[in-house]
Amino acid sequence: MQTILVTGGLGFIGSNFIRLLIDDFSDYQVINLDAVTYAGNPENLKDLENDSRYTFAHGDIGDRKLIDELLEKERPDFIVNFAAESHVDRSITGPAAFIETNIVGTFTELEAFRAYCAAGNKCRFLQVSTDEVYGSLGAEGYFTEETPYSPNSPYAASKASADHLVRAYHHTYKLDTLITNCSNNYGPYQFPEKLIPLMISNALEGRDLPVYGDGKNVRDWLYVEDHCRALELVLRAANSGETYNIGGHNEMENIELVRLLCRSLDRRLGPLPDGRSRQELITFVGDRQGHDQRYAIDAEKIKKDLDWEPQTDLAKGMEMTIDWYLDNQEWLNQVRDGSYRKYYQEMYNKR
Ligand code: NAD
Ligand code: DAU
Repeated sequence: MQTILVTGGLGFIGSNFIRLLIDDFSDYQVINLDAVTYAGNPENLKDLENDSRYTFAHGDIGDRKLIDELLEKERPDFIVNFAAESHVDRSITGPAAFIETNIVGTFTELEAFRAYCAAGNKCRFLQVSTDEVYGSLGAEGYFTEETPYSPNSPYAASKASADHLVRAYHHTYKLDTLITNCSNNYGPYQFPEKLIPLMISNALEGRDLPVYGDGKNVRDWLYVEDHCRALELVLRAANSGETYNIGGHNEMENIELVRLLCRSLDRRLGPLPDGRSRQELITFVGDRQGHDQRYAIDAEKIKKDLDWEPQTDLAKGMEMTIDWYLDNQEWLNQVRDGSYRKYYQEMYNKR
């Protein structure tokens, strides 16, 4: 049995990762440290509450004493850091929390990891990062692991800073660290502030579908389970100090993606009560400040070194995702509580 300390495991990707470790592997013991911010939802892993291989600890990655105690008690073989403020729009209206968690929090976790290794423990640290650290692409080309960092939003800059710290801890202290930079994920349990669940949620209620700018920004979509399988593989098999790009070669303009979602919902549920297609809910709104034009990942390195390839194409992944949201409207209603409604008004009324 190997012990993994997951930080930020109540969020979208972390909860999918933990479920994968418990359901598809028999040899991982999982400890999940999460601060339960607005994005961290205990409901996401409620079914694992009584599983003997899963333990939850409530706390902040910026709390050094707590992390020291957790490492001492649980003696993990691996640490996987998902904990972050993750929404670009929130980083534009309120960057401070991003500096605190994504930079200072990761630094604190790394310091605890350094002390734990210095005490003779063998452990590897995987930093779950993003392709946004590379900045924005034009119509051509892909991000490779050699692309220089050029972050454009406060979120991307905070993730880039954390990556640099992780890299430096490997170089300076010879710690066993890894970094992955992944493209846009989608799938079950994604909080409805992000494009796909927000559009599904609004379309189900017959509300406007707010597309930023001209809708021609391109994202490279990856089904969350494919990302989680890549992370497990990197953790287990990568050489120390490596960085890997992870992506699905599923590039699409936002407007095309939203139309695809509308077509699928119309097909399943019929038109809106007034007979209109959900495509008529699409509303072009003011653009995101500093909006990156295009992201696209070259994932050749992880394919060549670790034989990883995504298994889920966009059409199939989107159908599975819509199925999940239709089957879990109770979950959606719970997360769209009073604080979500306040967020939504503040973010969208002024666009
Ligand atoms: P999320 O916002 O859904 O979840 C973040 C989780 O971290 C939540 O459970 C939250 O409670 C927890 N958290 C926040 N601050 C914390 C703190 N100080 N201490 C402990 N826990 C804290 O995010 P996500 O979409 O699941 O992303 C997870 C990670 O993957 C992030 O680091 C993000 O940068 C990265 N990433 C996300 C995507 C994507 O498309 N969502 C793509 C590439 C990389
Ligand atoms: O690329 C990886 C990144 O993907 C992750 O690091 C981030 O954590 C994750 O949030 C995501 O960032 P994006 O900014 O690309 O995702 P978001 O879902 O917020 O937006 C996707 C695209 O859709 C983007 O071009 C902005 C646009 N958009 C978004 C929202 C919320 C809209 O047009 N309307 C919207 O209401």
